[in-house]
Amino acid sequence: MTVTESPGSAGARSAGPNAQEIMAGDGVAPPATLRVQSQVDMGNSDIPVERYISKGFHDLEVERMWGRVWQVAAREDDLPEVGDTLVYDIADMSFVLVRVPSGEIKAFYNACLHRGTQLRSRSGFTPELRCPFHGWTWNLDGSIKTIPCEWDFAHLDRAELSLPEAKVGSWSGWVFINPDESAGSLEDYLGTFPEHFIWDLSQRYKSLHVSKLIRVNWKACLEAFMESYHVIATHPQILTYLGDANTQYDVFPGTGPGRPGWSRMNTLSGVSSPHLGRPLPPQEVLAAQLASYGVEAPPVPEGETARRVLAETTRAVFDPKPRSVPGEKLSDSEAIDNILYYIFPNFQPWGGMSPINYRFRPNGNDPDSCIMDVMLLSDYQGSEKPPSAKPIHLGFDDDWTEVEELGALAMVFNQDVGNLPRVQRGLRATKKKGVSLGTYQESRIRQIHHELDYWINRP
Ligand code: FES
Ligand SMILES: [Fe+2]
Repeated sequence: MTVTESPGSAGARSAGPNAQEIMAGDGVAPPATLRVQSQVDMGNSDIPVERYISKGFHDLEVERMWGRVWQVAAREDDLPEVGDTLVYDIADMSFVLVRVPSGEIKAFYNACLHRGTQLRSRSGFTPELRCPFHGWTWNLDGSIKTIPCEWDFAHLDRAELSLPEAKVGSWSGWVFINPDESAGSLEDYLGTFPEHFIWDLSQRYKSLHVSKLIRVNWKACLEAFMESYHVIATHPQILTYLGDANTQYDVFPGTGPGRPGWSRMNTLSGVSSPHLGRPLPPQEVLAAQLASYGVEAPPVPEGETARRVLAETTRAVFDPKPRSVPGEKLSDSEAIDNILYYIFPNFQPWGGMSPINYRFRPNGNDPDSCIMDVMLLSDYQGSEKPPSAKPIHLGFDDDWTEVEELGALAMVFNQDVGNLPRVQRGLRATKKKGVSLGTYQESRIRQIHHELDYWINRP
């Protein structure tokens, strides 16, 4: 991959002003990072359909990729006290994260060193790690504590009976693990990402966690949240106030060994879609957008834009400025736009004021289904951080609207996720061998496959 010019890059774009041109007219200018553009030349080949449906490809992913990359397992706040545990499963691997007496978080392979039983089947507090089968017990720090009838195991060396560990790192309150003991640091893996993701998520608490089973390959699910190209067909009700085709897509190149593939998109709010042919009157745009939150629109003064009034109205809601937002003032873009970041392989935190974070994983070893986690990180007043929300589990056929706290988001998720079993069905039925991608609007999806190639081909 080679980096093309930045800012900006060659290639076709939607009619109408681009995101940078629109933001140039904002009331409070965006932070420097949102002014950067980056594209990488990755070619235009089709992505093999096999990647989404084959058990053989899934097995390669597990061995070559999931077993060797840094991946989000938890929030630090999910394990506030010594003895708190959290089970993180990825494909058929399982880890138990534990807040150990030294205060750090460790991630043990979740399997007994006697005859293999999974040590913990669910998260929660425990004073020690005790296997339910014959009672072998470990201290929280992973050292062996007791073996019933130890006289019968004189052939085993106690010093070798500490629980094996995965590597653990943290960024902005997120706990990452890496099963590969020879992996480089999380810091190296993230590369330039933390410089660009300027919002301090450690200042927020997890106010909602929904974990849903979906009948689609994990990558096809992830990819459904990486472009705004689908808005015209999937969410036509929001074209009045969403600059879908004006979205800016940025792909940042990996740096060095254990290369971090990361990307970003910014879909602007408070502007009407270029698909509508002509810009709608500002009052109409503002009224439609605020109505979607159940709020009545103030009049747009002569010569003002819907976007500036929307930003001002939103800023008033976030006053005083939340601690998680850097700088003097909340910019228009941070207040109202849809700024999604992505870290390979499966983590998508939103930037700006949005509380949304997504994570996608295969459902066990099934290439045809996945687990999607939606985690909301919210700002709070005062010095006492509220406790981290426990996951709410939704099955394949459960509706997002069952989680009342999702509010208007539930309908959008239903629209997004509603397509996905049909995607998987079609991928299995198709005669075409590859999936075709748009050069610009789907560049972030193409990057996933370049990174996947890198891990799969890595010795
Ligand atoms: S399998 Fe764990 S104690 Fe026997
Ligand atoms: Fe969507």
